[in-house]
Amino acid sequence: MATPPPLSAAPSGGATGRMAAVQEMARLLRLLFEVEREFVRTATTLIYRVGEPELKYLLCQHVWEAAGHARFLRERGRELSGFGSDEDTRPALRAVFEEAVRPDHGPTALTGFYAVLKPALLAGYRHYLHVTEPLADWPSRKLVEEFVADEERHAREMAPFLKAAAHEVAALGEPGQSPTTAAWCDHLAAALAARGGWLGTNPPVPLPPGFRWEHEGRAYTHPPTCHRGRYPTCSSVFGHDPAEVPIVRPWLVDPQTDARVIRLMVYVWLMMEMDAVDYLATVFYDTPQAPFDLHFDLARHLWDESRHSAFGYRQLPKLGVDLMTLEHSLDLYHILVQMTPPERYAMMTMEFEAGSFPTKAHVMDRIRELNDFEADTLLAFDRNDEQNHVRYGHHWLPRMMALFGEPRSVEEFVRATQERFRQLAAIHGGRTPHSLPPEVRLTGEKIRRLALGAPGP
Ligand SMILES: [Fe+2]
Ligand SMILES: [Fe+2]
Repeated sequence: MATPPPLSAAPSGGATGRMAAVQEMARLLRLLFEVEREFVRTATTLIYRVGEPELKYLLCQHVWEAAGHARFLRERGRELSGFGSDEDTRPALRAVFEEAVRPDHGPTALTGFYAVLKPALLAGYRHYLHVTEPLADWPSRKLVEEFVADEERHAREMAPFLKAAAHEVAALGEPGQSPTTAAWCDHLAAALAARGGWLGTNPPVPLPPGFRWEHEGRAYTHPPTCHRGRYPTCSSVFGHDPAEVPIVRPWLVDPQTDARVIRLMVYVWLMMEMDAVDYLATVFYDTPQAPFDLHFDLARHLWDESRHSAFGYRQLPKLGVDLMTLEHSLDLYHILVQMTPPERYAMMTMEFEAGSFPTKAHVMDRIRELNDFEADTLLAFDRNDEQNHVRYGHHWLPRMMALFGEPRSVEEFVRATQERFRQLAAIHGGRTPHSLPPEVRLTGEKIRRLALGAPGP
C-alpha cells in the first residue's frame, strides 16, 4: 500500500526543526560512538608496545569495555532520528587518534591516550548528562551514567601505570630526541582543543604556531618486536628437550607424565597466550575500513586471550614458579607481524586455535585426576572461549579477505598462508636467543622437580 501524502506539506527544514532536540542528542551520541570505536582501533597499538603483563591485560580490558560502550551507543543511537545508518569515523576525529599512536616510545603514547584523550572522553560523557533532558532521554542517560563510572574506574586503574610510565620516560634522559611526556600531552591536547574537544562543545582554540601534525609526516608501522619489559625472552617455549624448554611436547601426551607436571606446563602454555594478545592487537589498526562488529568481536577475542594469559600469570607463582625465570616467547609476533592482517587472523583462528583442541582435551582429562577444581574451571572456560574464537574466524576471515581484495577461496587462502608462514618462520623465527642460561631458566626438568617436590640442584 502506498503511503498517503502528508496532510500538510512541511515547510522546508520543518521536520528537522520539529525533531531538533532528538537530533542534537543523536549527534552527540554519534560523536561518542566514533570516539569509542576509534579508541578500540588505535589504543590496541599500545598493547605490544608496553612491557608489563598486567598493563597489557588492563589495556585489553579497557578496549573490550570501550567496544561495549560503542555498541550500546550505536544501539541507542539507531533509535534516534539523526544518528545515521553508517558507522564510519569522520576524518577530523580520526586525525587526533592517528596522531596519538605516533610516538615511537610506548609509555609516551600510553600517557597521551590516558592523560589527554580518555579524560576528554569522560568530559564528553559528563557534558552529555548535563545537556540532555533526563526524563525524555532516560535510555541514553542510563547508559551514559554507566560509562562515566567506567571511565572514572579506567582512570583509577591506569593511574599506577602512568606513574611508572613517567619514570620510564624520565629515565630516557634525552629530551632533545624524544618529546617529554608533558610536551607530548600538550601537543595532543592542542590537537583536541582545535576541534573544541571530542564533542566540539568548547570554543575551538587555534593550533599553536609551529604545530606540526606528526601523522601527516610519517606512517605508523608496528614495531618488528613486541615489548615484554623486564621479563626474560626466547624464541619459543615449546620443544622436545626437557633441559632446554618448559613445555616438552611429548610429555603433554605421554600417559606416564605425572598430572602435576602437565598442570604446570599448561599454565606456562596459557601464560604464553600473551603472544596472541600482542599479535592480535596489531590487526585493529590495520583494518580501518572494517565494520564495527568485526572490531567488536576482535576486541572480545583479545580480552579473552589476555585472561587466558592471566590464568598462567596468576597460577604459576602459587605453584612455586618464579616468573622471572620464565622466558617469554617472541617468535609468533615476529613472524606474524610480517604477514597481512587476514593472514595473521587466518593463522590464529584456522591453524593455532582450530588445531589446539585435541591436545588440550587430553591435557584437561589428565588434570582432572588432580581434583583441582580451579584448574578444571580455568581450562573449561579457556576451551569454551577458544570454540568461540574459531567461530569468529569462520565468520570474519572471509570478510577480512574481502577488505584486502583477496580473490581466493578461504580454503585456498588458508593453505597458502600456512605455507607462507613456514617460509617466514625460516627467516624471522628462532632469532631471539635465550635471555637466561638453562640452569637459571624454567625448563621441563625444573618443572618436574617443582611439581613432584623432588630436591633440585
Ligand atoms: Fe586463548
Ligand atoms: Fe583464542
